[in-house]
Formats: sequence, C-alpha cells, structure tokens
Amino acid sequence: MPPDPTATATATAREIVAGLCAAQASIAPKYFYDTAGSALFEQITQLPEYYLTRTERAIMATHADALALRIGPGATVIEAGAGNCEKARTLCATIRPRCFVGVDIAAAFLQQAVAGLRREFPSLDVRSVVADLLDEIVLPADLPSGRRLVFYPGSSIGNFAPEAALGLLQRLRRLTDADGALLIGVDLVKSKAILEAAYDDAAGVTAAFNLNVLRHINRLLTADFDLAHWRHRSFFNEEQSRIEMHLEARCATQVSWPTGCRNFRRAERIHTENSYKYRVADFAGLLRRAGFGRHVCWTDAQQWFAVFLAEP
Ligand SMILES: C[S@@+](CC[C@H](N)C(=O)[O-])C[C@H]1O[C@@H](n2cnc3c(N)ncnc32)[C@H](O)[C@@H]1O
Repeated sequence: MPPDPTATATATAREIVAGLCAAQASIAPKYFYDTAGSALFEQITQLPEYYLTRTERAIMATHADALALRIGPGATVIEAGAGNCEKARTLCATIRPRCFVGVDIAAAFLQQAVAGLRREFPSLDVRSVVADLLDEIVLPADLPSGRRLVFYPGSSIGNFAPEAALGLLQRLRRLTDADGALLIGVDLVKSKAILEAAYDDAAGVTAAFNLNVLRHINRLLTADFDLAHWRHRSFFNEEQSRIEMHLEARCATQVSWPTGCRNFRRAERIHTENSYKYRVADFAGLLRRAGFGRHVCWTDAQQWFAVFLAEP
C-alpha cells in the first residue's frame, strides 16, 4: 500500500520540530534535497575545491575494465541516493546492465534524472523508487532477482555516524542476493585544509546549499526562518573524523511554525550535516560487520578517495 501523504507530512513535521527544539538544534541532511538543493549539489560537484566527485569518477574510469569483468553484462543496478544519475550513466555504459533502479528521497529530481537515463539507454529497464534510506527499502516486486549490484557513490555513507552507517550497510546487504555486490564510494581522511576547503568553497555554493535547507524547512513546516539571520559554518572535527556543517545565527532570532517557536541566541548553531572521513582499514571492518565477507578496494594515487566492491 502506498504511504498515506497526510501521515507522512505529520511524521516529517514532528521529526523536524524535534530537531529544532533539541538543546543542540539540528536538521537532518536529507532535507537539503528539495529541487533547488539538488541543483545546488550538482553545482558543488563541479567546484575546484570539491575533489570528491572527480576523484571517484577517475578511480571508476581507471578500473572500468576490472569492474566490467567482475560484474558482467545483464545485472540489475540499484543506486541508493541516485541524485542526477550522472554516475549511473557512466556505470551503465561500463557494465551494460539489463535493469536500473534509482532510489532517492528527492522525488521530482529523481524522476527527471531517470527520464534522461531512459532516453540515453532505450533498451535498459529503468525504474525509480522514492524512499528514505533510513527506512527499509522496498524494491518493485517484479525486479529481476539475482546479480544485483547496489551502487552507493559520492561518499553519501559519510552522512551517517558509524553505527547508523553499519545499519544502512546491513539494509543494502539485504538488497544484494547471494550473488550480488555493493559498489560504494568512501571519502578518506586527509589534510584538514583540503577537507575544509571542499565544504566551504570560495564561490559560496556550499554556503547557499546549506542555507537553502531553511527555505525547504519553511515550506515543509510552514515556518518563518529568515535566511538573512543565518550564516554557513563548516569545520573538520578531528576527534570524530568528520566534517561538520552548521548554520549559525548572525543575531538573536526567532523561528515559529503553526504549533510552536524557538528563540536562538546570537552565534547559536543548527547542526545540518556530518560527513565522516574513513581510513581504508576502518571502512573495510565496517563492511565485514555488515556481512560483506570479501572486497576489493581501489583508490587514487593520493589516497584521497576509495571505491570498494564488496560481496556477501
Ligand atoms: C551527496 S548526494 C549524491 C548524489 C549522487 N549519487 C552522487 O554521487 O553525486 C546525496 C543524494 O542522496 C539523496 N538522499 C539524501 N538523504 C537521503 C535519504 N535519507 N534517503 C534517500 N535519499 C537520500 C539526496 O537526495 C541526493 O540525491
């Protein structure tokens, strides 16, 4: 049965209010991705400071033959957090699957992206599933079974604290059959200067992306965040091995919504994103704990990024 939209909207509002009213206010990063946020993220991937996309792309290009050989044609690719399906485009040209399923929370952006994929690969069976990866992912019942490749690029796994990441990897593991695999991109620990520049670019696109979450929350909650009262902050928390993004109040300010309000002091912050950075051995350990017994790991020469192909 499809989810009841009123119940979904109520649960969403409850979740957002709980985050805003917590002692340390927070907004979950999944709310970045309204249509404007998805387009801003696309711009981020092209910034000179944002090495992640081009490094992952280069690793996959270098190992395309090995990947094609290991996966073989005719598989079913399931991309979690598919976004603009740009990486799926290259992957499909490399391994020639029979079926592609894009899974994402951003419905309109996803539909547009899969439509583009259908035009480019007319013989590929292209599906879309609008879902929150934090829930159990329900795939179309008529999806071919066997030889499923779950694709989770972009170091999106870094948005989850290690224990939550383990839970998500276990859910992704359940999507692969006994003969399936997981292809996942993971950002690695590196110099603080390189990491911090990637999340605070000179052109201010990441700042615009971070602030846009307030516009999305205003719509979802009928709230009245004044974007001019907030500024982008990001830094590398070495102890936790994660980039943190926050929105910091430029002045004392209040936000209200139909059922309540919250006052923020000047310089008080709303935590909007974590992006965990891994060491190869630590991520390999997480894969093992999630039920992936074997893996190969490809990295770039600078060891900035890793792509793991893991099998149950
Ligand atoms: C960092 S972008 C990565 C996009 C693309 N895969 C890439 O590598 O460039 C994260 C994507 O995951 C989606 N996303 C974020 N949180 C999600 C969640 N909880 N459930 C489903 N999709 C989510 C976003 O809408 C966005 O398209």
